[in-house]
Amino acid sequence: MTGTRPTALVTAPFRGEGMATLQSLADVVYDPWIEQVPLRLYDGEKLAARIAEAGADILIVESDFVNGPVFDCDLRVIGSCRGDPNNVDIPAATKAGIPVLHAPGRNADAVAEITIALLFAVNRHLVPADHDVRTGQVYAGGKIPYQRYRAWQLAGRTAGIVGLGAVGRATQWRLQGLGMRVLAYDPYNPDATHTDLDAMLPECDVVSMHAVVTPETEGLMGAEQFARMKQDAIYINSARALLHDIDALTAALQSGHLGGAGLDHFKGENLPTDHPLQGLHNVVLTPHIGGATYDTEANHSKLIADDVGRILRGERPVHCVNPEVL
Ligand SMILES: NC(=O)c1ccc[n+]([C@@H]2O[C@H](COP(=O)([O-])OP(=O)(O)OC[C@H]3O[C@@H](n4cnc5c(N)ncnc54)[C@H](O)[C@@H]3O)[C@@H](O)[C@H]2O)c1
Repeated sequence: MTGTRPTALVTAPFRGEGMATLQSLADVVYDPWIEQVPLRLYDGEKLAARIAEAGADILIVESDFVNGPVFDCDLRVIGSCRGDPNNVDIPAATKAGIPVLHAPGRNADAVAEITIALLFAVNRHLVPADHDVRTGQVYAGGKIPYQRYRAWQLAGRTAGIVGLGAVGRATQWRLQGLGMRVLAYDPYNPDATHTDLDAMLPECDVVSMHAVVTPETEGLMGAEQFARMKQDAIYINSARALLHDIDALTAALQSGHLGGAGLDHFKGENLPTDHPLQGLHNVVLTPHIGGATYDTEANHSKLIADDVGRILRGERPVHCVNPEVL
């Protein structure tokens, strides 16, 4: 199709400046998964059929599975609107000579904001306090709310970030802006204050998880690490459940050692309703919504569209996971 105007099949949510750029580069067939109810995710076969139907030579996805027959299509480039493009069979794309673009850091601000939201909600007991108002239990157990819901302020206290990547850095300045002293453990980032997690944990009133899951970080926070945290400290994990041992976390909360926890992710994307964490009032639970902002979509649209433009002009893309095909 070289020489003719390309056609881009976009099954990712796409918006803003990135959408305008893409429309200037190609005819866009826009069919985003996010507007489909019930949930629609293409497998390789359905996606290949959709590509053929659209006559597309550019494919931009977010959650659909790019594998098998997709690589028989005549594609010039694949854009995966995620930091980790794990929905694309990268070795197969490389074998087919197709560059795969990705969008690192697209949701860093979004996840940092939910981290701060969880921290405030846990520390100031927002969920049970809201429940009291809604159920007419403002005066409860012989106490007024002021007696039940006092907390320490965050300003002046110490937070420890575990994993100083895109989200960790976006969380770091927000916590500093709240007046907190902010430490960080990340063996791969020279800007981190600590290279020893065990040394950092006892210093922190708040520990916030932002590491990527690797064999090294899986189960990083276990019984020993929770025991090292300060009495009444708050634990926040807006990254991935695999980073902690949930039984050890539950025990540390039940024993009263930890003051509270805020979690945005669970193994299998769900926490059973009879799980003991569900009964703890000092725990705030959200269902993996950290990255769910319109800005995340605008950010990945711009990153991917700019790199599609570079590829079409014969320039080197900035965020390509298999540059060996270029
Ligand atoms: N809740 C959500 O919706 C949501 C959305 C996006 C990302 N996330 C999660 O947030 C986390 C951070 O994402 P990101 O975009 O900042 O990734 P990133 O790759 O930019 O940063 C990850 C950091 O982890 C560090 N790291 C690696 N091994 C480590 C170790 N042993 N100990 C401590 N740190 C280590 C890396 O050096 C890197 O700085 C990931 O787990 C990601 O899955 C969650």
